[in-house]
Order: sequence, then structure tokens, then C-alpha cells
Amino acid sequence: MKYKRVLVTGGAGFIGSHIVDKLVLDNYQVHVIDDYSGGSTRNTNKKAHYYTCDLRNEKKADKIISLIKPELVFHLAANAAENKAQFSPIDITSRNYSTFINTLVPSVRNGMKRIVVTSSIAVYGKLQTPFKENDKPEPEDLYGISKLMMEESLKVLSEVHGFEYVVTRPHNCYGPRQNMTDPYRNVVTIFMNSLMKNKPYYIYGDGKQRRCFSYIDDVVDALYKCGFANVHGKIFNIGADKDYSLNELSDAIQNVTSITIPPIHIADRPQEVKIAISDHKQSKKYLGYKDKTSLKDGLLKTWKYAKKLGPQNEIFTKIELDNSKLPANWRNGFANKK
Ligand SMILES: NC(=O)c1ccc[n+]([C@@H]2O[C@H](COP(=O)([O-])OP(=O)(O)OC[C@H]3O[C@@H](n4cnc5c(N)ncnc54)[C@H](O)[C@@H]3O)[C@@H](O)[C@H]2O)c1
Repeated sequence: MKYKRVLVTGGAGFIGSHIVDKLVLDNYQVHVIDDYSGGSTRNTNKKAHYYTCDLRNEKKADKIISLIKPELVFHLAANAAENKAQFSPIDITSRNYSTFINTLVPSVRNGMKRIVVTSSIAVYGKLQTPFKENDKPEPEDLYGISKLMMEESLKVLSEVHGFEYVVTRPHNCYGPRQNMTDPYRNVVTIFMNSLMKNKPYYIYGDGKQRRCFSYIDDVVDALYKCGFANVHGKIFNIGADKDYSLNELSDAIQNVTSITIPPIHIADRPQEVKIAISDHKQSKKYLGYKDKTSLKDGLLKTWKYAKKLGPQNEIFTKIELDNSKLPANWRNGFANKK
């Protein structure tokens, strides 16, 4: 066993909790820091140790991490609401960058050997697709900018302080445990949650945006290997190869659920990238990444989870900068006014 103590930040969340389960199965001593802003106690593993902490609190983060002394860190804590970042820049930038730096510094001081971070294909912005890891990033939004800041900081600090790091850029991940209360992200479960309530969901613009929807188990297999493979300093796009438009996703979900309710198209989201498709040759070569789960199978598994949980109420959070460009369905109570 290469490491003993492993820290997973954001480990009560969607992707993080699946990483925690794998680490526990492999007999690591697993520690999780999460503030449950996007995660849930439903996702916890009895064999892991949990610490409730908002990692933006530097002193508290330092105290907990100095007790854990992690040798390996998977850093996932963040708010991944990419398009909300334009309207809540303080919350999203601090949850993406401050949580990272407040995790990294005490971890390095306490002997951390490697950190694996979840960046995003948002760093590519509107570059020509498919995005490749050696493309020069040109993020379009504050979410992508904060993720890029994290990547660049790692390069500098790793060189000076001698720890290893791996950057992952996952995309459009979906599956069981995805937060269904978030009105700002997670399109698959937003659509399913509306259907369970017999309500139409909203599609921004013409619905021709294209994305590669990536099933959680496939993503987590590759992400996990970043902790252990000989891949220090590398960057990996991780996700499905086949792209679908949002209209196609909507049809596929209505097929799988056997519920037909025409969606409502509303205005485009400001700064939304229309085509986001990435190249996965690197993750296939170095991590053995396999895009195993078809969209239909992944949606069936997600629908099973969603139905078991039942319809969820959306939780709206603070909008720091409001103007007429704020997507209409992000206004609390919008659905009731229709
Ligand atoms: N889901 C995707 O498709 C996707 C794509 C690209 C990148 N990512 C990245 O992967 C990571 C995990 O995403 P996810 O989809 O599992 O989201 P998630 O919201 O389910 O998980 C994030 C976790 O971080 C926690 N968290 C947020 N702010 C925190 C803070 N200040 N202190 C402590 N904990 C905090 C949340 O409570 C949550 O449990 C994020 O970094 C995200 O940016 C996700």
C-alpha cells in the first residue's frame, strides 16, 4: 500500500463519495472534510472519518488537516455551478479556490505526497473541439477561471515544495447520488426531478448545446487511478466520448422514464459554452479509462436512484449580482408563477 491516510475534501458530495467508497474497499484510512453545502449525510460511509468544516475557514481547515496528516489528498470540495458563477462570483470563486489553497498548504506542511484535483473542461471555454489537454486554456466564465487558477498554482507550488499532483478535467458527470436539490446544475437529475413532479423542465436557448454525458462509475474509476498511477504532473480529460444535444438528452430521459412532458425553452444562459466535447486519449492511455456505460443504461440507473429518493424541493442560494440576464428559472418561485 503506497499511502495510509487519505483525505477526500467534498467527500460527502456526488463524485467524492464514490471515491471514498473505493478507498474504504481498498482498506485505506479515509478522512473526509465537507460542509454539506452540496453534499449529504446520505452519501457517507460508516468506515470513513468525517469532519464538518467550511474549508474557506483557514484556521479550522489547518487544525483538522494537521490532525489527519494526509499522505494523499483527493480535492473535490467546490461549487461546480458553472453558469451561476457569473451571478455569485464571491461564493463560487471562494468555494473553488480558497477551499483548494486552504487544503493544500496544511497538507504540504504535514507531509502530503500527492494531491489529485478536480478541475473541469470549463478551462477550455469556446476553443475548437475536441478539447485536448495541451490546448492553451481560455475559460469563458468564473468557474473555469477559478479552476485554472488552481491548476496554475499547483505547478508553481509543486516545483518549490516537491509534492506530486495530478489534474483531472472531468465533464458532465451524472448518476446515483447527484444532488437533486440544486436548481443551478446537474441537468440529468433536474430533468428527472421535474418529471417526478409531473412538471415541465426548462431548456436554455434552442437546446442544441452539445455535451458528453459521463456515467459516474466510469469517471470515478479513472479519477481514482490518478491517486496511484505513475502520472505526476499530468492533466487528464475524463468523460464520455459520444456527444448529445440537450434536446436529445431530454428525449432519452423521457424514453427511460416513460413520462412525456414537453420542455419549456427559455433564454440562453450568459457565457454558456455551446459545444463542450473533449478528447480522452490521455486518460485511456495512462489510466485505462473506459467509456463503458451507454447513455441509456446510465440514465436507467440514475432514474432508479431518483425514484427511490423521490421528488426533491429545490434549494435556491444567494444571488450576489442580479440583473435581467439572470436565468428566469433561478428566481425562487418562478415555476409557481407559470
Ligand atoms: N459533476 C461534474 O460533472 C463535474 C465536472 C467537472 C468537474 N467537477 C468537479 O468535481 C468536484 C465534485 O463535483 P460534484 O459534482 O461531486 O459536486 P458536489 O456538489 O456533489 O460535491 C462537492 C462537495 O464539496 C462540498 N463543499 C462545497 N464547498 C465546500 C466548502 N467550502 N468546504 C467544504 N466542503 C465544501 C459540498 O458540500 C459537496 O459535498 C468539484 O470540484 C467539481 O467542480 C464536477
